[in-house]
Order: sequence, then structure tokens, then C-alpha cells
Amino acid sequence: MNDPILHPQVADQMTDHNYDGIQEYDNPMPGWWKMIFLGTIVYSVLYMYYYHNGKVTRSIHSDYQAAVAANLRLQFAEIGELTPDAKTIMQYVDDPKWSVVGKSVFSTHCVSCHGANGEGKVGPNLTDDLWKNVKNVDDIAKVILEGANNNAMPAWRTRLHINEAVLVSSYVASLRGSNPAGAKPPITGEKPIPPWSATPQN
Ligand code: HEC
Repeated sequence: MNDPILHPQVADQMTDHNYDGIQEYDNPMPGWWKMIFLGTIVYSVLYMYYYHNGKVTRSIHSDYQAAVAANLRLQFAEIGELTPDAKTIMQYVDDPKWSVVGKSVFSTHCVSCHGANGEGKVGPNLTDDLWKNVKNVDDIAKVILEGANNNAMPAWRTRLHINEAVLVSSYVASLRGSNPAGAKPPITGEKPIPPWSATPQN
């Protein structure tokens, strides 16, 4: 096979690679192109450092979380600091405004173990009359704050605002008798308990 006849100037620009007659021009990436490429790498590191270090007001996500927390504090100012007693828990069971907060705490922190409707997964069914650590309605708040069974049920005292703990207790109390689909059979040690209204509320 004949070598292709190349103009001398073009021949200068060829690399000496030759694979079965296929040759390669010696055209390195232009310097400006490489600089832009390197620039994007440097920029990405600075970007990560600046926006993803968890400081408030630097990313939409942390802004949003800060706004939600501030809003919740503002709203809680309206009801003050709730006490996790039977009277308070029962008072918020049917409260149209505040039961929403309890439900949202449940959806965020509890459904992974207790199921979307409290029907039970790793954690027990919270909708029937059989309970293990709970005899009175205020025991719900105790279990939530302190945890149970060596933290198989985690303690939420440091992770939830006390009002969130009380409101999610009200939400759990409201689930009783709801008979959700897929309700889990009782875990060992569960006993039937009297209705919530039987708890003395003074
Ligand atoms: C990591 C899984 C897990 C998460 C998350 C979890 N739980 Fe539990 N929960 C359990 C387990 C397991 C038990 C059973 C403890 C036992 O056997 O004594 C339990 C028990 C309970 C009980 C007592 C039930 C009874 O019969 O005594 C209540 C009330 C409860 N959880 C509410 C909640 C609420 C409200 C949340 C969210 C704030 C929550 N749990 C989050 C696993 C979990």
C-alpha cells in the first residue's frame, strides 16, 4: 500500500503513530480549553465547600429547613410549652390545627418502623387495644420521650421539641381503633388496656 502523499507542512503536523495506514494529526487540546476544564474542577471544590457545609442561608435546602423550624417556633409561641400529661394529650387529639403537626411528625420520624397508618412494621401496631409499655394515654408520651426495649424504640427527648412529642402522642392516641390495612399481629407482652378516656385527667 502506498503512503498517502502529504503536503510537507501537513506532514510536519502528524504524530509518528501509524496504525495500518491510519495516521494522527498532532493537535493538542488548546491551552484555553484545558484551563476551562481545570477551572471547573477548582470551581466544583469551592462550590461544595461554600454551599454544602450546612451553614444557613447558603443553600435553598438549608434555608428552607431554617424557615420551617423558625415557623414552628413562631407557631408554638401561640400554645406555649405543652406538658406531656393526659389532659393535654387528649385536648389535642381532635384539634383541627394542631393534629396536623402531630401527623407530620409521625410521617417524618415514625412511619419507617410503625407504618404509614400506625399498622406496624418493625415497631408494633399502634392502632389496636393491645399495648406493651402503655396503660394510660400519658404513657404514650413517656415511651416517645424515653424510648423502650433498650432503644429498639428510640428515645426522642433530645430530637423533638416537647410540643412535637405531645402532639405526636395525640396523633398516636387518635389512631386507636382505626383498623388500617395490613395491621400487624400483637408483639409479645401486649395486653388489652382501658380506653384513653379512662385515664384520670387532672
Ligand atoms: C427504629 C424503629 C422505630 C422508630 C423510628 C419508632 N419506633 Fe416506636 N417502637 C419501636 C419498637 C421496636 C417498639 C416496641 C418496643 C417494645 O417492644 O417494648 C416501639 C414502641 C412504640 C410505642 C409503644 C407501643 C406499646 O405497645 O407499648 C409507641 C407509643 C411508639 N413506639 C411510638 C412511636 C412514635 C410516635 C415514633 C416517632 C416519633 C416512633 N415510635 C418511632 C420502633 C420504633
